[in-house]
Amino acid sequence: MEAAAVSSLVALALAATAPAPPPRDTGAVLYRAWCQTCHGADGRGVPSAMVRLEVPPANLADCRTSTPEPEERWIKVVTDGGASVGLSMDMPAFGEGASREQIRDIVRYVRSLCGEPGWPPGELNFARPFLVEKPFPENEWVLVEEGRQQELIYERRLTKRLQIEANARSVFDSAGSPFQGAGAALKYNVWHDLSRHALASAGLEVTPPIGRQDVWELDGFLSAAVAPANLLVFQGEISATWERGAGIVNWSYRGGVGKPVGRFVPMLEAAWDVPAGARQHQLTLYPQTWFQLSRLGHVAASVGVAIPVAGPSPSDPRLIAFLLWDYGDAPLNKGW
Ligand code: HEC
Repeated sequence: MEAAAVSSLVALALAATAPAPPPRDTGAVLYRAWCQTCHGADGRGVPSAMVRLEVPPANLADCRTSTPEPEERWIKVVTDGGASVGLSMDMPAFGEGASREQIRDIVRYVRSLCGEPGWPPGELNFARPFLVEKPFPENEWVLVEEGRQQELIYERRLTKRLQIEANARSVFDSAGSPFQGAGAALKYNVWHDLSRHALASAGLEVTPPIGRQDVWELDGFLSAAVAPANLLVFQGEISATWERGAGIVNWSYRGGVGKPVGRFVPMLEAAWDVPAGARQHQLTLYPQTWFQLSRLGHVAASVGVAIPVAGPSPSDPRLIAFLLWDYGDAPLNKGW
């Protein structure tokens, strides 16, 4: 639809709703007046041909669409329009005609259309740390680099709380074939509480003896995150590694703190590894910065360094980095 046509449609819709609707249920009333033509009475969207739009209006009632991102994100889309976050201009901006409260009420109403309890809210979808297993279930591709090692991770949400993962690792050194190994994992969000800004997840990873891995390995973990007063984000993880024939070979304690600043989240993580039977523990620090690459926020990256501080064989600092694409949010070519 042409920009002019869209804005006259918006002006018409805004004019049709004066005088102000009753305070109760404002969100629903405004939704019907301003959004329903495109997004449908139930929020599921109307066929794009009916409203002469190039892209189909988003299905706002789908829990998979409405829950993974924070409320603020949709407030921005509705206030500044789809184009402001790299989505289609067919999604008009309402910021000039509507107040911030009205927009927040509509967005809350729209997000209530999901109707199914138990979905972890997007407010708890904190930026991915390098080390700690992110507790929020994701639909993501992640490419990780640490020194000479690479890892490709594919994550997929199966249900509101359950996510599966597949990964493959390579290493480029003089020791032989670069294929290091591959594995599969499950992660389950056991608890979340929006009022406490906190969530916790548990998981299990299986690594079969392929590539340079010579025995079956199991990794169990518990990870959690909390953002007191939404100022700092603390994330932590405890994990144990079990090897076939050897039992538990390592305990690992990981923790980090980050501070969101605009499109950046500088973080500091630490890993404390306790190999079974070994006298000396290993401590490594990971200063890093996460940053949003696409305007929509579905493509992000992180760079930093791993600095071995104490351990049996302290090695040189290594470069760490990852690049991620939240494919559940938008295709790679949209949202820029
Ligand atoms: C002129 C038709 C039209 C109207 C009116 C309209 N929308 Fe949209 N909206 C769209 C289209 C088309 C998209 C999909 C944009 C894309 O995918 O690039 C969209 C996308 C969105 C998104 C983004 C969803 C996501 O996946 O991130 C939100 C949120 C949204 N609309 C909310 C609203 C609300 C709330 C209203 C009423 C205040 C509204 N829209 C009015 C057409 C419209």
